Amino acid sequence: MSVWLQHIAIQHCRLIQQAAVNLSPTVNFLTGANGSGKSSFLEALCVLSRGRSFRTHRITDLINQQAETITVTGRLLDDVLETSYRLGIAKQRNGQTRIRINHVDVSQQAELSSHLPLTLIHPDSLDLIAGSPVQRRSLLDWLAFYREAEFQLEWKNYQRILKQRNACLRDLKQRYALTDWTKQLIQAQPKLYQFRLRATEALIAALNSVSLLYQSIGQIQIKLHTGFPAQVDPTNLQVLQGFYQARQEQELRYGMSLYGAHRGDLLITINGEPAMRRASRGQLKLLGIALLLAQSEAISTNEAKRGIIAIDDLAAELDVDNQYLLAQVLQKTQKQLIITGTRQPLPEFLPTDAHLFHVEQGQIHLLNT
Ligand SMILES: Nc1ncnc2c1ncn2[C@@H]1O[C@H](COP(=O)(O)OP(=O)(O)O)[C@@H](O)[C@H]1O
Ligand SMILES: [Mg+2]
Repeated sequence: MSVWLQHIAIQHCRLIQQAAVNLSPTVNFLTGANGSGKSSFLEALCVLSRGRSFRTHRITDLINQQAETITVTGRLLDDVLETSYRLGIAKQRNGQTRIRINHVDVSQQAELSSHLPLTLIHPDSLDLIAGSPVQRRSLLDWLAFYREAEFQLEWKNYQRILKQRNACLRDLKQRYALTDWTKQLIQAQPKLYQFRLRATEALIAALNSVSLLYQSIGQIQIKLHTGFPAQVDPTNLQVLQGFYQARQEQELRYGMSLYGAHRGDLLITINGEPAMRRASRGQLKLLGIALLLAQSEAISTNEAKRGIIAIDDLAAELDVDNQYLLAQVLQKTQKQLIITGTRQPLPEFLPTDAHLFHVEQGQIHLLNT
């Protein structure tokens, strides 16, 4: 184990008023009744890693009703270098955010994210396969973010260009600038495509390590959809120029950019047919979990970014047979795990150095040592 989260302290996250928890580098299991605060704990962890919850975009939902600020701090330990560093985030109702790393203020959430790669598996993981492309794009983009230092700037730049171009398509007064923004959107395509392609390749390679989860479903295939019709090469600027020209009327009618990396997707098939059409709900869920585990696996190109896998409400996600499968897969990963459930976990989930916690009305107690 190289880098892992040794300690987390939470203030005013939903019904959790105060919690300070020492974690195990391997498995941490939180049990408790419904409404006791298990998901809230993982939401706090998610705020520390990503600046927001996985259940809501509104920070005000998350802040305890009687409080003004949610605060989450963590201590990461690097076993190899024998150093530790402290991460902290505080968010107020008015949206103000303060982020600190080793007691120094930093302005970017991305810095916290890069220290604390978190993969979250929760009851909506099914949507990863069955839902809109947004989540599949973000799966790839997180991978690219962790694997390639230049990704974030390029991505931000793309969002800015897209916004400006959409304004030109929508608004007659800004139409004069359309040609220029189209040119910029075209120039940004090849890089974004390459990032996504490499992320897809890494994801596919990592999927092999969790094949136990999905091998009974059938032959799974994953392909990157570029955001353009299949015959359009997103790395050929001239081709793109002609393409956008031909589609300009259509885009003007819709008042937005209909083609490009922002419309990319992962195409997932089972035995050659779209997964959505072939698979049962249970199978879609397993496949969603497999993709998320593969993402986590592919993030850590080196030990230093080992990462955490959090699973919310394990039993709600999987029946007992599939829980056994998952336990087998997880035993092989080097990740730090934080899992919640209403009942005690299968013994297969608990190595000897696991920490078992009980959650009750927002209080978290260690049951073993
Ligand atoms: N902003 C808030 N302030 C105080 N309590 C809240 C807030 N938001 C939700 N809660 C309470 O927190 C609890 C939600 O806990 P949750 O973490 O979802 O439990 P579990 O995952 O263990 O079922 C509910 O009892 C809910 O009423
Ligand atoms: Mg819950």
